[in-house]
Amino acid sequence: MGTPRIWTKAFVGLVSFCAIGQAQTPTSSTTSSTSTSAQFTVPASANSALPVIPNIKDPLAVDAQAECPGYIASNIQQTSSGFTASLSLAGDACNVYGTDIEALELTVEYQTADRLHVAVQPTYLGATNESYYLIPEGIVAKPDVEQSNVVSDLEFSWSNKPSFGFEVTRKSTKDVLFSTKGKKLVYENQFIEFASSLPENYNLYGLGETVHGFRLGNNYTKTYYNADAGATIDVNVYGTHPFYMETRYFTENPDGSLSPDILLEPESITYRAIGGSIDLYFFQGPTQPEVTSSYLKAVGLPAMQQYWTFGFHQCRWGYKSWSDLQDIVDNHVKFGIPLETLWTDIDWMLRYRDFNNNPVGFDTATGKSFLQRLHDGGRHYVPIFDAAIYIPNPSDPSDAYPTFERGNQTGSFMQNPDGSLYIGDVWPGYTVFPDWLSQGAEAWWTKEFLLYYQDTPFDGAWVDMSEVSSFCVGSCGSGNLTLNPVHPWFPLPGESSNPVLYYPEGFNVTNSTEAAAASAAIASFSSAYPEPTASSTVSYFRTTPTAGVRDVNYPPYVINNVQGALGRSAMSPNATHADGTLEYDMHNLWGHSILKATYNALSAVFTGIRPFIIGRSTFAGSGSFAGHWGGDNWSNWPSMAFSIPQALQMSLLGIPMFGSDTCGFADNTDMELCNRWMQLSAFFPFYRNHNILGAISQEAYRWASVIDASKTAMSIRYQLLPYMYTLFYHAHTTGDTVMRALAWEFPNDPSLASADRQFMLGPSILVTPVLEPLATTVNGVFPGLIEGTEKWYDWYNNTAVPVPAQANTTIGAPLGHIPVYVRGGSVLPLQQTALTTRDARTSPWDVLVALDKNGNAKGDLYLDDGVSVQPDATLTVQFAVQDRKLDTVISHGGWIDGNSLQNITIWGVDGIDSAVKFNGRNVSSSNVMFDSDKHTLVVFGFNVSAWAGNQWTLEW
Ligand code: NOJ
Repeated sequence: MGTPRIWTKAFVGLVSFCAIGQAQTPTSSTTSSTSTSAQFTVPASANSALPVIPNIKDPLAVDAQAECPGYIASNIQQTSSGFTASLSLAGDACNVYGTDIEALELTVEYQTADRLHVAVQPTYLGATNESYYLIPEGIVAKPDVEQSNVVSDLEFSWSNKPSFGFEVTRKSTKDVLFSTKGKKLVYENQFIEFASSLPENYNLYGLGETVHGFRLGNNYTKTYYNADAGATIDVNVYGTHPFYMETRYFTENPDGSLSPDILLEPESITYRAIGGSIDLYFFQGPTQPEVTSSYLKAVGLPAMQQYWTFGFHQCRWGYKSWSDLQDIVDNHVKFGIPLETLWTDIDWMLRYRDFNNNPVGFDTATGKSFLQRLHDGGRHYVPIFDAAIYIPNPSDPSDAYPTFERGNQTGSFMQNPDGSLYIGDVWPGYTVFPDWLSQGAEAWWTKEFLLYYQDTPFDGAWVDMSEVSSFCVGSCGSGNLTLNPVHPWFPLPGESSNPVLYYPEGFNVTNSTEAAAASAAIASFSSAYPEPTASSTVSYFRTTPTAGVRDVNYPPYVINNVQGALGRSAMSPNATHADGTLEYDMHNLWGHSILKATYNALSAVFTGIRPFIIGRSTFAGSGSFAGHWGGDNWSNWPSMAFSIPQALQMSLLGIPMFGSDTCGFADNTDMELCNRWMQLSAFFPFYRNHNILGAISQEAYRWASVIDASKTAMSIRYQLLPYMYTLFYHAHTTGDTVMRALAWEFPNDPSLASADRQFMLGPSILVTPVLEPLATTVNGVFPGLIEGTEKWYDWYNNTAVPVPAQANTTIGAPLGHIPVYVRGGSVLPLQQTALTTRDARTSPWDVLVALDKNGNAKGDLYLDDGVSVQPDATLTVQFAVQDRKLDTVISHGGWIDGNSLQNITIWGVDGIDSAVKFNGRNVSSSNVMFDSDKHTLVVFGFNVSAWAGNQWTLEW
């Protein structure tokens, strides 16, 4: 059998989606148990919507393929980049989930040599039955034609037999990458359907955001409707990235992408959207790095992050004061644990109002001196900012909220269809939501950040609840504002009516007495508050299409939304933007829009400095503004394991600045889980420990073993900071990935197609974490080793791992040890670990060379001031090893790094010449250590600045 070939291709379809709602009037009132004053509690019924059954589960669902006529293409017109055609209905309208659009326009354009765009949209804009919605310019990067008359390896062909269908093939191999032939195109005002065949057992990745295994499998429906539903497996969660990549080993076929329901079935992919238009982009690849780079160049390359953001971040819901934060700093210092950034959750706000510090605990005077000390110590502060804005009680003058007033005066908030303010319910009570299509919202948002910064010199922004989440259906606050502030209909975590929290699997073994007590408490709570049993006689609400009329609250085609009706737990689809656009058409872009607005705001606050933003809801291209965290996971082992495919997916989607809530968000963590997780996350770009209100504390210093484990892993991370930063530079400039799947780095090995329990950080570091409780070993693979193409070195003992007898190797991994390997062929510039990245950056340099089986290696380094959007001074270094000589070529772009060169360590050295030479001169033997058993050479005592000259060499 010859070397397997890999065919990779992918595309993204950008489409707009929908949402619902009607006003709910509160019907009951109680007093919240934890409020300082009597507070109205919104009734739970405020978040009830009509029961709907997703179409894919509905036994009464109509099959559009059986009912609809499809289209016929005619009137082909060549253009400089492709052609256009008219599509007209091939028979009588079927009107299955809306009103058929009779005339469509097909556009096929080669935008670049490696990007083909296929679009279908209604011909007559403004017709009464149209669903046509174009994403406004500037909201997302919409790729356009960049070159005309390009030569591409992608070929588009079409046919009218039996109705219009098209194929995209790869000319060089004749592989069919995408084919809608034999399936009808259905195009109605509230429903679009098309499908492509796929090869048997296809390897498909992406379609984020989802919490799922890395390889998506062929029995999966991906629904796109951004939702505040926790990091729940296999449902629609916070973001929308309608992009997939399909990988083929040896031969085979294609893929698809877009909108609300995407059905992955054994040999096909089906798209069903409830609005928007068809916009498909095919990226020819053929390799994963090429596909990713082309995709990210189209939607937006990832933002470069400030150097300090790669330090360790500590957060929790429940830090109640500046003095709590000071304690956190003091404890990290006391135990010698690196700490870069402190985060505060909604506790910092006065009654959960953005931009308003709570004078109790977070008064601005104390804050200023605390933050001065924090900054002087080289540390940073990032507070949360929620998407929803409190709307004051008009009958209570003391309730005035200038942030709301200023936004309202500038028309910055979403409206109801009648022009009144749309008022939902979030943490502060009844709230309004910024309207990112209004003229005023971005400027108002920027102004609020500028004002806030004067009082609280923060360093970055954590943007939450941006799907956009609302705890009631419809404009539930309309007419009820005199009740404000109100308490949500559910108890906040930690409030007395909340149940005791669960502990992770394995806790019953390591802490049996405590576990038994917790189980008993949970059992007694469960019997006192039984889960409501689902009625077996639910009668579902179904919408019959009305000709030419869109029902945005209850569309006839019901997507598989985890929340049921579109208006549950989210701003309703009939909420209206200033230009008349409905939330239905913009829903999945709201979170992206607030990130863009926040990027602009922070750019105004910190002129010329890269904004540091971590956002919850994202869209294709959001990575150019922000990073992302995996959302509300649980303190359990599966949540930790799923963080790896979550991160790999975000890598593919251009959000490399990703991390999960380390040690787990909801429920109580325990020592073992936190120990393993603090070590695992140390190899994710965004490294933050975060915890829910009411759960036990989980800072690393709470357990002696977690202190040690964290310091061990952090020491590796901090040494690797220059490598991580360089990886980000490549991601930002060319669309490289930072965290990588084994399948991408070893594309010829089909056995790695699903591998997501190990990962690579860049091309050189392999991480094989323990993801199960009570384990002392972990199984992992050393890719390429069996074939003899690779060499892997154990980070801790500096030696090459022995060739395993079989693919899966059992690796010793007692608690506190995370197996980390360096790939032979790598040169890694390292600095010393420190309590802050500031101190790490001023430490001496080491260069670590791990030779491949031929004795070669390479690597690089990028440095600048670590903060500027457009650094005017840079420094790059290229390392290459061949024939027992390390060549280091330094390009000076004005950045001066005066740190000394400390050690050069070379792994995999078989023997050395009589003299080791640095820059051609013999190095004193007292500065050379060669361990012939370990094959390790260490050279030290250089007494030079590492990157001062233009080059240096080391020979052995
Ligand atoms: C939801 C976020 O996902 C979570 O991280 C945060 O702690 C809570 N909101 C409270 O702000």
